[in-house]
Order: sequence, then C-alpha cells, then structure tokens
Amino acid sequence: MSDLLIIGHRGAPTAAPENTLPSFLLAAQTGAQMIELDVHLSKDGRVVVIHDETLDRTTSGTGPVTACTLASLKKVDAGISFSAQFAGTRIPALEEVFTSLPRRIGLNIELKTNVVNYPGIEAKVLAIINRYRAQTRVIVSSFNWTSLSTLHRLEPQLRLGLLFNRLEPDLWVQAGLLNVFSLHPALTCTSSQLIWQAHSWGYKVFPWVVNDPGLVLKLKTAGVDGIITDCPQAIMQAMG
Ligand code: G3P
Ligand code: CA
Repeated sequence: MSDLLIIGHRGAPTAAPENTLPSFLLAAQTGAQMIELDVHLSKDGRVVVIHDETLDRTTSGTGPVTACTLASLKKVDAGISFSAQFAGTRIPALEEVFTSLPRRIGLNIELKTNVVNYPGIEAKVLAIINRYRAQTRVIVSSFNWTSLSTLHRLEPQLRLGLLFNRLEPDLWVQAGLLNVFSLHPALTCTSSQLIWQAHSWGYKVFPWVVNDPGLVLKLKTAGVDGIITDCPQAIMQAMG
C-alpha cells in the first residue's frame, strides 16, 4: 500500500469532527499521508476551514460563514455536535493547519468557491502556502475551475487538482490549460479508461470518497495513485 497515497477526507471524520485540528491530527497519526480540507473566507477576509457555506450543520452557530469575522467564528463550537468528547473544538484558520501538522503531511486544500464567490480567496490561499514554504506539500483543488485558472495565473508551479462529479466535455482541455497535477473524480466517474487517459497526460488520479478497503484494492489494481477517504485509519489497518 505504500505507493498509494491515503488522503483523509476532511481529516478523519468518522472518528473526530470534520475539518478540525483534532480530526487532521488523528488522520495524520493513523496513517494518512495527506489531509483534504475545505476553505471559505470570513467577513474580515480570513481563510477558514469548514465544509459548508453555513455554520449550522457542523457547529453550534448558525448563518453564513461569510457573515462572521474570524473572532466570531472562533466563538462557535465545531466539536460538540460530533461528540461531547470534542466540546470546545474550534474552526481553524488555514494558518493553524500549517502550524499544527507535521511538514511530512501533505495538504489538499479545496477552495469552496462553487456556491459563494469569495473575491481574492485564491491569492490569500497562495500567500499562506508561500508563507509556510509549503508548495511541495500542497495540492489545491476546486469544483470551480475558474478559481483554479486564477491560481494558475498567479503561480504556474502550484500543484492543482481538478475536482469533478460529472464527466464534462471539456475536462481534458481544462486539465491541459491548467497543467493540473491531478484529477479528483467522484467515484462514479472513475474508470479504467479515465485512469489510463489521465496517466497518458501525466496526471495523477485521486478518486473520492472511498471507504471500503476491498474497493481500495480494486482501485489500486486499476491504477489510481491515491484515494480520498473518510476513514484513513480503517483503510490503513485493513491494508496492513
Ligand atoms: O475533494 C473531494 C471532496 O472533498 C469533494 O466533495 O463535498 O466532500 O467537499 P466535498
Ligand atoms: Ca472537500
């Protein structure tokens, strides 16, 4: 399994609250080599880590992330709705992820710009990556390919991941224009043909979300380069 990249989807969200530092640390401690996380902008323009555009599902707060400053986001509890054991867990700013995780752990930063437009988020994320000299351990992905194009203009060397849940007709054209590092297809879009074609262009393939160890083996045999999983610990244990 060592040549298959195990990417913890929102950390280790079956064992700790998604997109929080405890979840990222647990994923890293239990075998994930990379952590996938989601980012938005706060009202005061800080890059914050949370999946949804609103606070309601995963925190004690309500309303849009973009209506709250970082200081007010820090007042909501991002752990209590998962379990009392995680009460007091906070929404992290992206910088905290870099300061909290070992440098050996890669980061797949997903820009959540497909619902809310966050002007300038691409440059802010790039500035943070550069501040922590982290370009070689980061992949930035998004369903919003315009966001990826903005990043590519700002920093052509940055590793980009093309996220998709449908086989768009211009997939290969976009991948070429963006010189992407990797394709991140939904499992339903992942096939031997897609993997073969991606490899022929030099792109890695990281399907999501793969939680069944048996399926991980099949995908590995089919040639994927890694998998994005909710349960990195279980996958690592099952695979040995
Ligand atoms: O990066 C793959 C996956 O995270 C995309 O979907 O909704 O879990 O962010 P979602
Ligand atoms: Ca995501």
